[in-house]
Amino acid sequence: MDRILIRGTRRLTGTIHIGGAKNAALPLLAACLLSDKTLTLSNLPHLADVSTMAHLLADLGVNISMNGTSGGGGNHGRVFELNAADISKTTAPYDLVRKMRASVLVLGPLLSRFGKARVSLPGGCAIGTRPVDLHLKALAQMGAEIDLNEGYIEAAAPDGLKGAHIVFPMVTVGGTENLLMAAALAEGETILANAAREPEVTDLARCLVAMGAEIDGIGSDTLHIIGKKELHGADYAVVPDRIETGSYAVAAAVTDGDLTLKGTRLDLIEAVADILRQAGVEISEVDDGIRVRRGAGGLRGVDVMTEPYPGFPTDMQAQLMVLMSVAQGASMMTETIFENRYMHVPELSRMGADINVHGASAIIRGGSGLKGAQVMATDLRASVSLVLAALAAEGETEINRVYHLDRGYERLEEKLAACGADIERVKN
Ligand code: EPZ
Repeated sequence: MDRILIRGTRRLTGTIHIGGAKNAALPLLAACLLSDKTLTLSNLPHLADVSTMAHLLADLGVNISMNGTSGGGGNHGRVFELNAADISKTTAPYDLVRKMRASVLVLGPLLSRFGKARVSLPGGCAIGTRPVDLHLKALAQMGAEIDLNEGYIEAAAPDGLKGAHIVFPMVTVGGTENLLMAAALAEGETILANAAREPEVTDLARCLVAMGAEIDGIGSDTLHIIGKKELHGADYAVVPDRIETGSYAVAAAVTDGDLTLKGTRLDLIEAVADILRQAGVEISEVDDGIRVRRGAGGLRGVDVMTEPYPGFPTDMQAQLMVLMSVAQGASMMTETIFENRYMHVPELSRMGADINVHGASAIIRGGSGLKGAQVMATDLRASVSLVLAALAAEGETEINRVYHLDRGYERLEEKLAACGADIERVKN
């Protein structure tokens, strides 16, 4: 397994290009199943999870051709042409779903277009139990018959899905995405209330509209969808990755650096920018991006609670904890989305961070400085938090199990090294 070695305390300066959002790309890829016409997606990040979704779609019979890269300059985004005219099966097998939970996003589109789908039930996950019960209940409200059999979700709607008024009891990103795709081809009107408003959900809704869907309330927590008999093809560019943006913003802050992040937008990270500013980070808008540097007064502690969008994202919790560990004073973090998302804490503690976890909250006493150590990555965002800690730490850090990083951060070492980081990947 590959390892990453980082020798810390180098100031990061320069420009980093932000790619398309992984968590937008995955549902957008699944959306190709809704039509027999070609969906062309650009600004797709080159990531392991995107390849896993492409494999799954190809396995179902989607014809995928890669058509170069989008944009110019530092933009390495890929262009995929996806055609689902000849779907040969409607089963998403265990081997592919096991690799990536977001595979469950094929359920809604397969069921609405073909009247049936068999999708392996995603298992637990390092950050929480992460059931998909809300996806299934909502699809049942639209008339689907759903059985759980031998580890598979078996869903059927022989007469098609019917519009329904669905009120999600809690905000679910994937649930909203699956239901948006299901409703796009259902008969009649579907209302999704207490829907997720994450920019990735909005991106999917906009792409569906480009494919001919009728959706009102995009960007709000109530979506009205009038189902269509069929959707057509479209050309659509994936929204910039707000979590990659936020992660590099923290890299600038904790290394006393000065980074320009290109190809991204401040409005995507408002809650994160707000917290970073409270912590003493300067963020400004520049042409096609943002500039981030540590303010003259240094970093100070902040209190943060993760929440559904537009609140502070759980996917930035681990990264912010690194900033809290090197800031002056105490900070408090409260994680409200996942029940087990503090696995980076023992690893950060091995690097000298002073963090006490009590249930969903953690107190971080900053200011004592981090030191290099051997650490282990446990999930995607925990992994990047270890990279950030290593960049700020004295001495050398060895990060193991870095395959997690490859799921969500494209060319991470290259991007950081170009800005002055002393970082290398050791292949095994
Ligand atoms: C998406 O996961 C993201 N993944 C996650 O990003 C992100 O952390 C999460 O949203 C929250 O923002 C993708 O977009 C591919 P949820 P998702 O359904 O859709 C509970 C990353 O690092 N729940 O909004 O699976 C669930 O257990 C990843 O990039 C149910 O109880 O998240 C969780 O506690 C990790 N029943 C909460 O809701 C359900 O049926 C929010 O989950 C569905 C969800």
